[in-house]
Amino acid sequence: MAEDDTVRFTLNGAPALARCPDERILLDLLREELRLTGTKRGCDLGTCGCCTVLVDGRPTLSCLTLAKIVAGRSVTTIEGIAPSGGLSPVQRAFVDLGATQCGFCTPGFIVTATAFLREHPRPSREEIEQAISGNLCRCTGYLAIVRAIEAAARAEA
Ligand code: FES
Ligand code: FES
Repeated sequence: MAEDDTVRFTLNGAPALARCPDERILLDLLREELRLTGTKRGCDLGTCGCCTVLVDGRPTLSCLTLAKIVAGRSVTTIEGIAPSGGLSPVQRAFVDLGATQCGFCTPGFIVTATAFLREHPRPSREEIEQAISGNLCRCTGYLAIVRAIEAAARAEA
């Protein structure tokens, strides 16, 4: 990190540069400074999963992560999950199977499920339920969400 708190990292596949004072959290960097508001602020306490992004491919709660740790790393937000102009298989399945209600939790679920399916391309229902256990849906649409992740796994097989 440079002396002026500026860090270089990769954001959704492109080089990025941002000021990251010691106290700034990744969620604030993404939403407030970089205006990537797809990543949601739910609890701000690490309990809801709404703020999940990928850091070097791993699901990460951005509300509990200091922004400066992204230096030299790759960050993927919901805005970077799909090929430009399209929907990823997980996003497509969420749309097709009605796995969103208010949609507030949806970015976190999709980011979590995307990373999970990369590691578990043929998951059981129990494995899916375990994978999303850190993501809360206040609309309680869990069955449709699980079915959508199953459908995305089938689509990618
Ligand atoms: S806002 Fe980060 S876990 Fe809820
Ligand atoms: S769809 Fe409303 S919180 Fe999940």
